[in-house]
Order: sequence, then C-alpha cells, then structure tokens
Amino acid sequence: MQWDIDRCVRETFLAGAEHHPILGSTNDRAKQLAAEQGCPMPYLIVADRQTAGRGRGRNRWWTGHGSLALSLLLDGRSWPTTPNPGPLAALAAAVAAAQTVAPLVPAARVGIHWPNDVFAAGRKLAGVLVEAPPGQRYVVGVGLNLNNNLAEAPPELQAVAVTLRELTGTEHDPTEFLIGYLKRFATLLDDLPSRPSRITQTADELCLQRDALLAVETGGRIVRGVCQGIAPDGSLLLSDAHGLRCITSGIVVYDWPQARG
Ligand code: BTN
Repeated sequence: MQWDIDRCVRETFLAGAEHHPILGSTNDRAKQLAAEQGCPMPYLIVADRQTAGRGRGRNRWWTGHGSLALSLLLDGRSWPTTPNPGPLAALAAAVAAAQTVAPLVPAARVGIHWPNDVFAAGRKLAGVLVEAPPGQRYVVGVGLNLNNNLAEAPPELQAVAVTLRELTGTEHDPTEFLIGYLKRFATLLDDLPSRPSRITQTADELCLQRDALLAVETGGRIVRGVCQGIAPDGSLLLSDAHGLRCITSGIVVYDWPQARG
C-alpha cells in the first residue's frame, strides 16, 4: 500500500516527515538530522525497509516488506524539568502502540512487556528503541509488525513474533494506522512534563507480566522476583522474600510463558 506522508503531517502533531523506500536505520537517520540541526520537530522518518535496523542492546531488528519502521525526532527542551524523559517516552510509545492495536483485535490480549515491548496474543508485535543524541534531542524508534509476512523472517522470530495482519486476517493501510498511532502518542506525550504518572499508570494497566516470575539483568547482575507491575516512575516492580524492588533499567532475560497474555 502507498504511503501518504503529507497526510501524516497535516493530521497530527508532526512538524515534518520523510519517507524512504529503503534505509539503514530510521533511528540513525534521525540522529543524523539531530546533528545537522535546524530540523523541524517533531519530525518523522519512516522506511519501508531497513538494512541495519537495530533493537535494544545488541539486537538487530528485522524489517520485512509490510513492516512499520519509524523514528520520531523529538525536542527534549519541551520537558525541561523532567529528569530522565527517555524511558517515559519509550513507555509512551509502547502504550500508544498497544492502544492503537487493541481495538483492531478485540479477541486478543494486547499489552506491554516491560520495559517497552508490545505483545498481542502472547507474541511480540512491536518494539521500541529510544536514543538520546546530544542537544536534548530524543529519537523514539518504533518497529511494528503490521502487514509483513513472518514466513520471510529469520526462523528464530517466527515462533515469538506476530503481525497485525495475521491477527486480523486483513491488510492495514499504513497511513491510517500511523495517524491513529501518532495521535495517541501525542496525547500521552502531553502528560510527560507535568503528569508522567498518567503514562506509567496506563502502562501498569497494560502490563502483561504481572504475577509472573521474572529474571532481569540490571547493573551487571540478575535480579529475580514476581512482577508487581510498573511503578509510577516507570520502573519495574519485583517482589521477593526481602520485599519490593524497583528496577529502573534492565533487560528481562527470563520471561516465563505464564506472563504472556
Ligand atoms: C526492540 O524490540 O529491541 C526494539 C526494536 C526497535 C526497532 C525500530 S524499527 C525503527 C527504528 N529504527 C531502528 O533501527 N530501530 C527502531
């Protein structure tokens, strides 16, 4: 399906946008624009294919034909008093994706796996990678399996990922989907400077890991506990025999099946 990128700008909070049939990584392009300065913000970069898509940590991100791969370049000066807006923006990006997808798949459980993965029907639908180039800029990268075909994906992804097309049995107009997504994301971002707990509370309501035993790699060690949801500051809450712990950043390394919706 064809993109109408101008419509995305007209109908949402974007100040500008660009579409690429093929790009290394939309996040890298956003960082390049951040370094050049003078780019209107919020600015959207969207690519049909990425040859060097990146996930969190050392992971790569596969962008098959029909995937949604986008990055938003945001001006962090909009949140001058928020000490660490990156994780909140990442959580907002994941919440917006879950909120956009959920009404389209009423029979599936759609929600979030901390820190910012979106799951539907027990498999990963979307991931978020936020980066902070110099100059108080934030790059919010979102990869979402929209109309792509997982039969073309690397084998290790096929069992753990899902696409929206697979869940609904129909193709989705990417422009329409993206406009809905951007509107939800903008609404959530409005709360970032003064009411960040609204973002985290919604994330907590959408958390699919609650009551599951998790192991999280954080600060060079593994912390295990039972997930008690997402705290008002966006941390993961884990309980164990010693009480409740807040994990501010980390990677969930064991995420047992009972956590999945
Ligand atoms: C993850 O789940 O590990 C995060 C995946 C983020 C992938 C997106 S696709 C658009 C943007 N460009 C990138 O190179 N990565 C992000």
